[in-house]
Amino acid sequence: MSIRLVDSYVTPFVSENEYAYMQSMVSAAHTMLHEKSGQGNAFLGWVDLPRDYDKEEYARIKVAAEKIRSSCDVFIVIGIGGSYLGSRAVIEFLKSPLYNNLKKDGPEIYFSGCNISATNMRELLEICEGRDVCINVISKSGTTTEPAVAFRIFRELLEKKYGADGAKEHIFVTTDRAKGTLKGFADKVGYETFVVPDDVGGRFSVLSAVGLLPIAVAGIDIDALMKGADDARVAFADPDIQKNDCYKYAALRNILYRKGKVTEILVGYEPFMQMFCEWWKQLYGESEGKDQKGIYPSSVIFSTDLHSLGQYIQDGMRNLFETVISVKDTGVTQEIPHDPENIDGLNFLSGKDLNYVNSMAQQGTLFAHVDGGVPNVLLELEDRSAHSLGYMIYFFEKACAISGYLLGVNPFDQPGVEAYKKNMFALLGKPGYEEQKAALDARIAKL
Ligand code: PA5
Repeated sequence: MSIRLVDSYVTPFVSENEYAYMQSMVSAAHTMLHEKSGQGNAFLGWVDLPRDYDKEEYARIKVAAEKIRSSCDVFIVIGIGGSYLGSRAVIEFLKSPLYNNLKKDGPEIYFSGCNISATNMRELLEICEGRDVCINVISKSGTTTEPAVAFRIFRELLEKKYGADGAKEHIFVTTDRAKGTLKGFADKVGYETFVVPDDVGGRFSVLSAVGLLPIAVAGIDIDALMKGADDARVAFADPDIQKNDCYKYAALRNILYRKGKVTEILVGYEPFMQMFCEWWKQLYGESEGKDQKGIYPSSVIFSTDLHSLGQYIQDGMRNLFETVISVKDTGVTQEIPHDPENIDGLNFLSGKDLNYVNSMAQQGTLFAHVDGGVPNVLLELEDRSAHSLGYMIYFFEKACAISGYLLGVNPFDQPGVEAYKKNMFALLGKPGYEEQKAALDARIAKL
């Protein structure tokens, strides 16, 4: 077990009979998932993906990653939402948020197409000046505006740099197997393509080519990542909440939600977890937030945010709970030096490892927040390895699906994401949106 749920900090808020009550619902959700009888059952490819992935494509991913690693100084990953959050989360978790500034034997990696910011684009273009650049454009639909615009800009850059033919060697496309503008374009021009499986939604796609190519470019052992996820697939197959921490987590979330704990805060004590929290927020926010229901997913990195949001969590409105991820072995140590003069009065920490101090901050915060009326679910992650991270990714994916079914929503669609797009297209004058544009213009005139 690479991840273990400790319920000591949540039991004061949950009674035994509530677990018993949840068991039958969890069993029903388990059946819906495994017998593919629930809503969204066309998008369950992620359930067995760690075992049933396309082995031929997987080998091509490794070859392409080596080619990118050996031929580029800068690798730009173009995608938004589920098309970039997973790879960025894994790279920062296993390498570093400072990856681009540290010594390494591969290219710097940047993410584009995940905003519409001119300043961000100009900065990335500046970084590319005079350097060898490869890009991986990732879009399941192949029509999402943000990555499509970024792709157009970077394609122009690469064609100017290497010529139209040369650019083909630097462009890698991950999209639908057969459909979409991007697929048609890639086939016509002759880019190497990788597939977002039909039955895997964006936010569940990190263990497909969507995540694996950028992760492999960072020099991460994708075999270990997949093995971790597959071990979790096997470990979390028992519907019994008391034997399945993944299901216990889903059950606890639902119990707390019904008590009015409508905000969940994912807590990390390591800056390398920041983007993992962003990945988790998308996974849970897009899966559960619908039909005017759902837990609002938020996140903090402690102890940093104890000096910003800590006050609210300790003393503010009591409608929240925390899920704390504690990485038991970070793989590094840093001793605090001794000062013979003890000018700062810190000699009680002399010789202590920063990991120890961090763990005491965690212990103290757990007690304080529980005392303040905030239930805490503690998840202990064995270490910071690719195997453990793959295991944790699968843990959260499966718990998310079960949570969605417990909530009574389809965890695999995202109809709400379309609303802003329609308005944006209308306001930008996209053909076909004339009526909507007239309505929005009239609203603007009244402001
Ligand atoms: O989870 C999802 O499905 C979304 O967040 C998508 O990943 C995101 O909207 C990007 O879509 P696409 O990959 O089609 O460009």
